[in-house]
Formats: sequence, C-alpha cells, structure tokens
Amino acid sequence: MNDLNAVNEAAAKPLRTLPDAQTVTEVRHWTERLFSFRVTRPQSLRFRSGEFVMIGLMGDNGKPLLRAYSIASPSWDEELEFYSIKVPDGPLTSKLQHIRPGDEIILRPKPVGTLVLDALLPGKRLWLLATGTGIAPFASLMRDPETYEKYEQVVMMHTCREMAELEYGRQLVESLRDDPLIGEFVGDKLKYYPTTTREESAFMGRITDNLASGKVFADLGLPPMDRAHDRAMVCGSLAFNHDVKAVLEGFGLREGANSDPQEYVVEKAFVGDGI
Ligand code: FAD
Ligand code: A2P
Repeated sequence: MNDLNAVNEAAAKPLRTLPDAQTVTEVRHWTERLFSFRVTRPQSLRFRSGEFVMIGLMGDNGKPLLRAYSIASPSWDEELEFYSIKVPDGPLTSKLQHIRPGDEIILRPKPVGTLVLDALLPGKRLWLLATGTGIAPFASLMRDPETYEKYEQVVMMHTCREMAELEYGRQLVESLRDDPLIGEFVGDKLKYYPTTTREESAFMGRITDNLASGKVFADLGLPPMDRAHDRAMVCGSLAFNHDVKAVLEGFGLREGANSDPQEYVVEKAFVGDGI
C-alpha cells in the first residue's frame, strides 16, 4: 500500500480517541448501586452468549483501567449491553457510573468464559442461578434462541437483598415473551423465580435454601434436580458459588468446563474477599 492509500484508509475510519474504543449509546440507572449501559459493537466481535470481556476507561496515569464484565446482550444483538455495580470507591466503577451516551469506553474484543451452553452435557432443564449482578451472563443466555432449542425448560433463579435490585432482571424477563425476535422461542419454557432475602416479597430466601429445602421445586411444580435431566449455571459471589456448588453436588451434578462438559458450570460475578 502506498502512503496516499494509507492516509485515505485512515481517514475513512471513524475517529476514535482511545484504543479499542466503543461509544456509549444508552445508560439506565436502576438503584444507587446498579446501572446498565449499551455500547457500539466492534464489527469483528463474535462471542458465545454467557461470555465476558475486559472493559474500562483510561486511568489518570494514561493507562487503561480494565475489569472483567459479562456481556448481558445476546450474540445476535447489534450492540453490547452490560449490567454493572457501582462501588463507591472502586477504581473503575466510581468513574464508570458517570458515563453518558456519546462517551467512549475501552473494550478488548477477546471474549472468554465458562457459562456457555457448550460446557454442559445435553439435558432437559437448565437452571440459571444468580445473585446480584451475576444475572448479567444469563441476561445474554435468556435472550439466545439456542438456549430454548437445547432445553425444554429454563429456570432463572435470581436473588438479591431487596426488590429494587431485581428490577433489571424482572423487566428483561417480562419483555421476552412479547419480543418479536425471541418471543416464539421462549414461549412458556422460561420460568422466573426471583427472591429477596432482606425485604418482604412474594418469594423469599436464599437460592441455596430454596433448592435444598425443595421449596422452589414445589412452587414451580418441578421434580427435584437429578443428574439425568438437570443442568445448571451459577454466577454470584465467591461465598454463594461455594455454597451452591455443594447443593448441586448433593443432587449428583458434576462441575464441567469448556474442555470437559458436565452437568453444571460456575463463574465468579466479581473477585472479592472470602473463600
Ligand atoms: P474493584 O476493585 O474491582 O472491586 C472492589 C470491590 O467491590 C470487590 O472487592 C468486591 O468486594 C466489590 N465488587 C466488585 N464487583 C462487584 C459486583 N459486580 N457486585 C458486588 N460487589 C462487587 N461486575 C459487574 O458489575 N458486572 C458484570 O457483568 C461483571 N462481570 C464479571 C465477570 C467476571 C468473570 C469477573 C471476575 C468479574 C466481573 N465483574 C462484574 C466485576 C468487575 O470486574 C469489577 O470488579 C467491578 O466492575 C468493580 O470494579 P472497580 O474497579 O470499581 O472495583
Ligand atoms: P443474604 O441477604 O441472606 O446475605 P450481597 O448483596 O451480599 O452480595 O448478596 C446478594 C444476595 O445473595 C443476597 O440475597 C444474599 O442473601 C445472597 N447470598 C449471599 N451469600 C450467599 C451464600 N453464601 N449462599 C446463598 N446466598 C447468598
């Protein structure tokens, strides 16, 4: 390529001020601690629903400040959606929570992760078990037709301390049945089981307790989990993941991975203190 061609090619590309920059198109604040946002999608980015990427902002030192984020939008969506915590003194989210449409974020287009359909053996019923922002990868999987092609039933259990923290997931699930693209795949296959633990609501209690006591099976009219039919994906705090694994193992399910599909898979919703 001669110099002039190179100059013309550069001029034809949209001007970006950051490396791997994407433009924010929409921001919604759900609570003082939770927000979601959408950004433009790099044309070359292919990902499997449930995977995560590194996103962030340029730090004050001129270096990118990046964190892992589950892609909450499905793989067919033209844009990318993320669902985020706001940590008051968090290096990234203390700044990220102030983004507005038109701003740029950094997005490294290398998706990875274990919460993918390929990491599970075929089954009849898929359980999606999340606390807090752990619902993000499942917001992607619940909007992917492949999820409903592979499973007869999908159960989304989401637990937060208070009802307002369930709202992002509740609105998403509600919008699915009438969605022109995904509605016919979802049909009545998706069962939604939101619970709170610190505010009175219709259904209450930790996911671990509702599974171990059998309450969720009774409430939804389903048989107890078993290795032959049930598959599970888990995304929450380290303590939640640790405790729910024990419950799933109690039902005879075994942990799988991309390279070794089994009956359940786990991913951290964040890196924190604890186990
Ligand atoms: P950090 O220094 O990263 O975190 C400070 C402290 O805040 C942590 O020690 C922890 O106690 C707490 N914390 C961090 N993230 C969360 C959270 N999500 N919920 C509750 N407490 C938290 N975060 C999201 O908000 N949405 C996602 O989709 C998401 N996906 C992730 C996927 C993976 C595989 C991993 C490992 C992490 C993911 N995270 C997600 C967490 C994210 O990477 C950052 O930790 C978060 O954005 C806070 O960044 P920070 O720099 O402000 O604070
Ligand atoms: P609880 O209110 O009983 O602690 P957090 O906001 O602390 O990240 O918790 C999010 C949700 O996950 C809360 O409803 C919380 O219930 C629940 N939770 C926290 N730790 C566990 C655990 N080890 N097992 C099951 N649920 C948990």
